[in-house]
Amino acid sequence: MGFPHPSHRQETPLLTRHFGEAEARTLDGWKKRGGYQALEKVLAMTPGEIVDIVKESGLRGRGGAGFPTGLKWSFMKPGDGKPHYLCCNADESEPGTFKDREVMRWTPHALVEGCAIAAYAIGAETTYIYIRGEFTEPLLRMERAVREAYDAGILGANAMGTGKRIDIYVHRGAGAYICGEETALMESLEGRRGNPRIKPPFPAVSGVFGQPTTINNVETLAAVPEILMKGAAWYKAMSLSNPKSTGTKLYSVCGNIRRPGTYEVVMGFPFKDFLHDVCGGALDGRKLKAVIPGGASVPIQTMEEAEATLMDYEGFAAQGSMLGSGGVIVIDDAQSMVAVIARLTRFFAHESCGQCTQCREGTAWTTKIVERIRDGHGTMEDLDTLVEIGENMTGTTICVLSDSCAVPVISGITKFRSEFESLIHGKRVHSVLTAVA
Ligand SMILES: Cc1cc2nc3c(=O)[nH]c(=O)nc-3n(C[C@H](O)[C@H](O)[C@H](O)COP(=O)(O)O)c2cc1C
Repeated sequence: MGFPHPSHRQETPLLTRHFGEAEARTLDGWKKRGGYQALEKVLAMTPGEIVDIVKESGLRGRGGAGFPTGLKWSFMKPGDGKPHYLCCNADESEPGTFKDREVMRWTPHALVEGCAIAAYAIGAETTYIYIRGEFTEPLLRMERAVREAYDAGILGANAMGTGKRIDIYVHRGAGAYICGEETALMESLEGRRGNPRIKPPFPAVSGVFGQPTTINNVETLAAVPEILMKGAAWYKAMSLSNPKSTGTKLYSVCGNIRRPGTYEVVMGFPFKDFLHDVCGGALDGRKLKAVIPGGASVPIQTMEEAEATLMDYEGFAAQGSMLGSGGVIVIDDAQSMVAVIARLTRFFAHESCGQCTQCREGTAWTTKIVERIRDGHGTMEDLDTLVEIGENMTGTTICVLSDSCAVPVISGITKFRSEFESLIHGKRVHSVLTAVA
């Protein structure tokens, strides 16, 4: 079938198979497409059996860190007498990342079903879907889907007639990037300012309301029903690459590229083919210069690195970056790397919660210096200062927002030093991003 909007394209149909089909958003439409069969199947299994299948499938967290999902679920100890919680992280505020909102807009019941399965597997009666405040349409879709599932007896005190309780609440955030960090999300959910918590204790020991909690990304949970329906071997077999990266991955592609949008490809797909063939390559008369492949907080890749990459966790790491959230930001030769980096650091400075000195001061100081260089007032000494600040901002704070700000700066200075130096030596910068900044 065709896709009405250019942002809904599929290269491998799994999560995106029903994007663009309005009927798939409704309970009836979802059921016609096989929806809720996986939930029915797993409710007759033991939680341990479900965790084992998810472990065996090799599914890893799609929120950024790539932590093995089945292993995370196995940290929730059954029979400890405590209430368990599941949180679905639908905050999606990382610049360049816009794939989770598409899942919620087009296939909200896939997420409801994934949440219900995960909740049962970890012994949680209550799930919170924490959704970014600005997501008006995804919020509406999720609220409708949850309501339909309650009305049909899929959720509630007697979920699918099994006597098991599965409750899902959709909780709207208030528009802070930091609330996507899992412990800040829990603080916010509990009604406080979204400041990250020191770990340990980890959420599986003390999470929401001090009780054992699992937090998973939207894309991670939406992949679960098909894995349970078709099996771990089926999911693993889709990977073109290595056994550590399995299944498919959503990528949101933006920036200087002919066909921006949300794509799904199997793990191990060549990034060169993806950028040039699937996404259409550079705009007329332009040349691609750099890619930030996994959302704003991963290292910038040169085109040489990007074109040598196989798209999986190990493949991006082997070529100087990370898969991260799958938010691909493409930069062409019309852009100034310094202006791009200045835009990113300003974002992190604005979003720092301010708890840790290295982050509060470091993000602001970094932004001031990068903007000074961008505006033609920098010195060569500034480059050393930026690297030194960046090193002090890495691995020294409660959460990694601070590291995320240092990453584009250090990788930018290392890989595109000549652009910083030309500005310091008096060349003007022209960039569309300067205007946005
Ligand atoms: C500053 C910051 C923002 C984050 N934002 C998100 C987000 O919007 N969505 C998300 O799923 N994970 C986000 N994460 C990662 C979460 O802390 C967490 O690792 C993830 O939700 C776990 O889910 P997964 O195992 O399914 O990937 C963020 C992390 C940090 C440090």
